[in-house]
Amino acid sequence: MDLDAFVRALPKAELHLHIEGSLEPEMMFELACRNGVALPWDSVEATRAAYAFSDLQSFLDLYYAGAAALIQERDFFDLAMAYFERAHADGVVHAELFFDPQTHTARGIAFETVLDGLERACGEAQARWGISSRLILCFLRHLSEEDGLATLQQALPHLARIHGVGLDSSEKGHPPSKFLRLFARCRELGLHIVAHAGEEGPPAYIVEALDLLGVERIDHGVRAAEDAALMARLAREQVALTVCPLSNVKLCVFQRLEQHNLKQLLDAGLKVTINSDDPAYFGGYIAQNYVDTARALGLSRVELKRIARNSLEASFVPEALRQPWF
Ligand code: ADE
Ligand code: ZN
Repeated sequence: MDLDAFVRALPKAELHLHIEGSLEPEMMFELACRNGVALPWDSVEATRAAYAFSDLQSFLDLYYAGAAALIQERDFFDLAMAYFERAHADGVVHAELFFDPQTHTARGIAFETVLDGLERACGEAQARWGISSRLILCFLRHLSEEDGLATLQQALPHLARIHGVGLDSSEKGHPPSKFLRLFARCRELGLHIVAHAGEEGPPAYIVEALDLLGVERIDHGVRAAEDAALMARLAREQVALTVCPLSNVKLCVFQRLEQHNLKQLLDAGLKVTINSDDPAYFGGYIAQNYVDTARALGLSRVELKRIARNSLEASFVPEALRQPWF
C-alpha cells in the first residue's frame, strides 16, 4: 500500500482545526458574492497568491479578512460541511473543531448564528459519514479578558452544545496568565480546556497554560523542545500536543519541514498528534500533513499508527461513548 493510502486508511481524530481556517478561496468568493461582502482581493487566484506569510500575525491579518464573507447560518453550515467531506476522505473518524465567535460577533453576527450553523453540520456529518465531532470555543488572546468574559456570557445558554474552550490568535505578548479569571470560570463550568502555547511564544507560556489555565492538551507546543524540564514533564504527564507541521512551515516556525522537531518530540516520549490547523491557508488537510511529515522526517508506519492512536486517546470523547475504532 502506498503511503497516501496507508495514511487515509488510519482511523484518526483531528484535534486542532480552526473551522474559519478551512475556508477555501473558492467558497470565500461564493459566500462574499451571495452576501454582498467586499473582499480585499479581486479573484480566487489573487487570494491564493496573497498566502505568503512571514509569521503568525501576517497570516492572522488575512484570516480575519477572509472570515468577513461568513454572515448567515447556512454559511457556517456550508463551511463545516466542506471541511467534514474532506476530513472523511482523509480517514478522520472524529473531529474537534475550533471556532472564534469574537471574529463574528464583532461584525454584528449573532453568536447563535455561528453556533447553529456549525452544530447543524456536525449532526449532518454524523448522519452522512459517521464522523463524531465536538465544538471548542476559542477566545482571541489579542483581545481583553473582559471581552472573553462577555463572550463566555453569550455562550452560557448554549453550554450543552460547546464541549471545551481554547485560546488562539496572536501569541507573543499575550501570555496565558492574561486569562486567568476567564479560564477559572470555564473550569468551574466543567468545560474542557486547551490553549495554543509554544507556537511562536516561549516555553514559559506552555508552563503557564498547564499551571494557570489547567489545560488538558497543548495546541502546537513545539517550542517545548527548548526546555528540558518541560519536555520531561510533558512526557511524564502524557499531555497531548496537537502539532500542525505544514502550518509551522508556512508561518516560518521552521524554515523547512525537514527541520521540524516532531520526531524529536515523539522520540522523547511526548504524546504527539498531527493536525491541519488552517488547511485552506497552509496547503494541506490532515492526511497531507501526515504524508509530508512522514516523508520529510522519515517516520515509520509504526510511528504513524502511534500518532493516529494518540489522537483518538487525546480526544474529549468519554470512554463510555467511544466507537469501536477508538
Ligand atoms: N488562529 C487560527 N490559526 C491560528 C494559529 N495557528 N495560531 C494562533 N491562532 C490561530
Ligand atoms: Zn491553531
